[in-house]
Amino acid sequence: MNLPTASRLQFTPDLNICRILNGMWQVSGAHGRINPQAAIETMFKYLDAGFTTWDLADHYGPAEDFIGEFRCQLIDTRGKDALSKVQAFTKWVPRPGKMTKKLVEENIDISLRRMNVESLDLMQFHWWEYQDKNYLDALKYMAELQTEGKIKHLGLTNFDTENLKLITEAGIKIVSNQVQFSLIDRRPEVNMAEFCQQHDIKLFTYGTLCGSLLSENYLGKPEPRGSDLSTASLKKYKNMIDAWGGWQLFQELLAILKEIANKHKVSISNVAVRYILDQPTVGGVIVGARLGVSEHIEDNAKVFSFSLDADDRDRISAVSRQSRDLYQLIGDCGDEYRR
Ligand SMILES: NC(=O)c1ccc[n+]([C@@H]2O[C@H](COP(=O)([O-])OP(=O)(O)OC[C@H]3O[C@@H](n4cnc5c(N)ncnc54)[C@H](OP(=O)(O)O)[C@@H]3O)[C@@H](O)[C@H]2O)c1
Repeated sequence: MNLPTASRLQFTPDLNICRILNGMWQVSGAHGRINPQAAIETMFKYLDAGFTTWDLADHYGPAEDFIGEFRCQLIDTRGKDALSKVQAFTKWVPRPGKMTKKLVEENIDISLRRMNVESLDLMQFHWWEYQDKNYLDALKYMAELQTEGKIKHLGLTNFDTENLKLITEAGIKIVSNQVQFSLIDRRPEVNMAEFCQQHDIKLFTYGTLCGSLLSENYLGKPEPRGSDLSTASLKKYKNMIDAWGGWQLFQELLAILKEIANKHKVSISNVAVRYILDQPTVGGVIVGARLGVSEHIEDNAKVFSFSLDADDRDRISAVSRQSRDLYQLIGDCGDEYRR
C-alpha cells in the first residue's frame, strides 16, 4: 500500500512527515501487554504502508528503545539510507525545579542513546507548573543543544496559549504544540489555533479517536463503565465524553458520523480524523498504535481518500452545539494536567 501525496506534510525544511502519526503511548503497558518482537515487526508494516512518523516520549515505557531497535533492524535489513524515511518525535517530561544545562543535556543524551540517533528530529517539551518559570531555562538550554546539533527542532506538548506566547516572546523558535483535539474536545479552536497560525506553529493532535470510542465499536452500544474501559486511553476519553455531554449525546454524534461515513464509503474513525486534519494549523493527527495487538493500517489509509463537505460539517456542528463548553469547564489546552 502506498499513501497518496496528500498524506505528507513538509513540516520543516528538513522533515517531510506523514499527517497521521503513529502514537506510541499504547506500548507503555497501560493499554495491554506488548510483545517487543511483534511490536517491532509491526513497525515495518506501518513504514511500508507509508505511516513513517512516530510520536513517543521518554516515559512511554519502551517506546524510545523500540525506535532504537527498529532503526538497527532497518540498517541491517535495508541499509543505512532507509533511515531517512523514518521520523521520530519524542518528549521530555521533567519534574519542575531548577534547570541547568548539564541536567537538560543529560536527559537529551538519554533519548539520543535509546533511540539510536545522533540528533532528535523533534523534542516536544512538557512542563507541569506554569508558576515555576524554570521552563524558560530548560527551553533556552534545549535551543543551545539545537545549535550544537543534538536536536533538530523544538516543540511543546500541552502548553496553553498564554505560556506558548511567553516562550515565543522569549525568542525561542517553537515549531509545534501537541494538544488534545477531537470532535469532542474542541478547545484548541478557542485561542490556540489562531495564535499558532500567526506564529507558524503546527498542532499535533491526540485523543482524536477518543481511544477508539469514536468508531463503529461503540455505535448503538450501552455506556461502557469500569472494566469495559480496558485501556488508559478509553478511561481518559470516556471522562471527557462525560464532561462534554454524556453517552446519549455521544450516541447522537456517532449516528451522524456513521451516516457521513457511509456517504463517503469510509469509517466513523476516518471521518473523526479527517475533520481534525482539516482544521487550521493542524499538522497531523496522532493515532495510537497497540503494536502487535491490533492495527488499523488499511482503514486509516482511507482518511486520505475523501473530503468532507459543508453539509457534513454542518451536521456535525448541529450535535456539537448541544454539548457543554469544555473551554469554560476545563480551561485552555493542557489545563487538565495542571489542576
Ligand atoms: N501529549 C500528551 O499528553 C498525550 C496524551 C495522550 C496521547 N498522546 C499521543 O497520542 C497518541 C494517541 O493516543 P490516544 O490516547 O489519543 O488514542 P487514540 O489515538 O484516540 O486511540 C487509539 C486507539 O484507537 C483505535 N483505532 C485506531 N485506528 C482505528 C480505526 N481506523 N478504527 C477503529 N479504531 C481505531 C485503536 O484501538 P484498538 O487498539 O483497541 O483497536 C487504538 O488503540 C499516543 O500514543 C501518544 O503518542 C499524547
